[in-house]
Amino acid sequence: MEFEALVQSRRSVRGFKNEPVPRNVIEAIIESAKRAPSSMNTQPWHVHVLTGSPLEEVRRRNMDEMVGGAKVKRDIVSHGEYQGVHRNRQVDIAKKLFGAMGIARDDKPMRQDWVLRGFRQFDAPVSLVLTYDRVLDPGAVCHFDLGALCYGIVLAAWDRGLGSVINGQGIMRSDIVREVAGIPEDEVIMTCVAMGYPDDSFAANAVRSDREENDEFVRYVGFAD
Ligand SMILES: Cc1cc2nc3c(=O)[nH]c(=O)nc-3n(C[C@H](O)[C@H](O)[C@H](O)COP(=O)(O)O)c2cc1C
Repeated sequence: MEFEALVQSRRSVRGFKNEPVPRNVIEAIIESAKRAPSSMNTQPWHVHVLTGSPLEEVRRRNMDEMVGGAKVKRDIVSHGEYQGVHRNRQVDIAKKLFGAMGIARDDKPMRQDWVLRGFRQFDAPVSLVLTYDRVLDPGAVCHFDLGALCYGIVLAAWDRGLGSVINGQGIMRSDIVREVAGIPEDEVIMTCVAMGYPDDSFAANAVRSDREENDEFVRYVGFAD
């Protein structure tokens, strides 16, 4: 796909076909994504690719713990609840997703069901868990590096007909992900990317999220016009 078409058409996918993703396809995606820049070319990332029974165990235990009221145990520090303009944008995308899925504002069970889907990594056949070397904590620069890798993964997947969603909910219980996937203690779990072939009949997959106009967040300094 041409770059502009790829970027403009990509969206998060939260409904997947029950179809495995071949390992060589994932390898090609990572091969492409690892061309991402990183500070001083440190490439501080690791990718743990889960499928099959380990992934089933992660999603079941992550969901059970969260439903049971367990505390979030993420490796990375949380910013807390979004406020102000960030909160408004959060609400906006939620409204779009719930609208597409026909989930009414007061339909608590269905809203809860949606949250649980997130904890289950939207039942995707594959999960890519992204980690970085703990020695780099507190991490701001390597977080940036992982963001670059992550967007590369998402775009390279889309280019190959695969959908994905970066899924912070999927690693809310990072301790479980670490235990099941055998992730060493010297790595920090940053996020996971749920991936698979998109189910085109899943309404939320058609949602296109908004972006602000450039005027809202771009300044030009020293330009003649
Ligand atoms: C760090 C990060 C964490 C995210 N976590 C979740 C998540 O837990 N559940 C979810 O449904 N989407 C999650 N997303 C996807 C965003 O909601 C999505 O990227 C955003 O709404 C823009 O939509 P788009 O990707 O379709 O353009 C996450 C995205 C990022 C970058």
